[in-house]
Amino acid sequence: MESISGFSKLSKIDKIKWLAAQIGDEKLTAEMQSFWHGNPAVQKHFDEFSENTLTNYYLPFGIAPNVFINGKCYAVPMVIEESSVVAAASKSAKFWADKGGFRAEIIGTKKIGQVHFIWEGDFNKLYVLFDDLKEKFLDSTALLTKNMRARGGGITNIELVNQTHLEPNYYQFKATFETCDSMGANFINSCLEAFAKTFIEWAAVQEIFTPAEKHPTIIMSILSNYTPECLVRAWVECEIPKLGEVEGFAPEVFAHKFYKAVQIAEKDTYRATTHNKGIFNGIDAVVLATGNDFRAVEACGHTYASRTGKYSSLSHASIENNHFKFWIDLPIALGVVGGLTSLHPLAKRSLEILGNPSAQELMKICAVVGLAQNFGAVKSLTTTGIQKGHMKMHLLNILRTFNASEAEQMQAVEYFKTNVVSYSAVQSLLDGIRVKAKV
Ligand code: MEV
Repeated sequence: MESISGFSKLSKIDKIKWLAAQIGDEKLTAEMQSFWHGNPAVQKHFDEFSENTLTNYYLPFGIAPNVFINGKCYAVPMVIEESSVVAAASKSAKFWADKGGFRAEIIGTKKIGQVHFIWEGDFNKLYVLFDDLKEKFLDSTALLTKNMRARGGGITNIELVNQTHLEPNYYQFKATFETCDSMGANFINSCLEAFAKTFIEWAAVQEIFTPAEKHPTIIMSILSNYTPECLVRAWVECEIPKLGEVEGFAPEVFAHKFYKAVQIAEKDTYRATTHNKGIFNGIDAVVLATGNDFRAVEACGHTYASRTGKYSSLSHASIENNHFKFWIDLPIALGVVGGLTSLHPLAKRSLEILGNPSAQELMKICAVVGLAQNFGAVKSLTTTGIQKGHMKMHLLNILRTFNASEAEQMQAVEYFKTNVVSYSAVQSLLDGIRVKAKV
């Protein structure tokens, strides 16, 4: 591959042609074009989400129906490529639908932003003058926060934090925000940059400051994606007999195996990682479908999972007096206005399908789907094993790679009801079918 300057200035088709020439495959141009939207205006809209767009990358958009949360039934949109995820979420939702459904509550909605700075001076002077500076911060952001305040949000606190035990002369302004129905990243970052500018101007005219103290160095101003106090709890619970027989296991046996599996995920980091990955299978799919930032959500969740100093399970289970409870505490910052939520037509649709929830309601939906996903995975793992369900879906994917006809697919599905699915087993079955068809 050659390097190129001015690539971003080429037209879309010239970008594709350049790439086709580089990889020596003329077919690339037609292939990329085949994934363009039929309506050029819609395509232009998608092109503009990012830079150097060549085409669209398709992912399945599905729904998990029968998700009961606090008595209300949702059909939850999910965007995910991994087979079995939507099926597992739907199955768990149905399992719990006649046992009271899922419950969820918001514990907090606090978001955090920081101005990190270096200041060579006497901390006490800054400390004493901080109330005055805080007033200036609020004044300088009054216009920025006007609409948010009208909606009941805004800047809720600003602290001066001495971090010199971590790094010489390192301090920060740590602010908390309420961003209502928006995720709030732009709002928070704009406020923080205004704080930084105000601080520089304010420090320069403080009479009691030495020349060095009058010139703090702003290192950066940015929100934190770690929001442990933007937290939602979701749970399911019932008397153990109500669980019924689960895949041939008596309810008591199932409940205890399930409980042990969660205990293991709480204690063993290797298992916790996979356990939490299963949770994020569900959460990410809803976050993507609703146009939210799944990288921020993942980063926050994994930091929270490590908050004791040891990475652990995000979900927990208990058995007390024959009562089974399974729950998750999930920090998650989401928006239902702004960003992609209104720009991406399918994100907008997803929110409509969910009944245009508030950000808090969407937090509950995500936590519930994560818990449902986790329940489905751990239920399979502790009963039938995961491969039974996985391989059924995987079989269809393998059959597609061999361009199996509908008749071949039906024969294969029948055959693999009693045989172990593998790539080579599928290949030899199809070879056999095809040889027979020739004679
Ligand atoms: C696969 O995507 C997710 C699981 O591995 C989760 C788990 O092991 O709990 C099945």
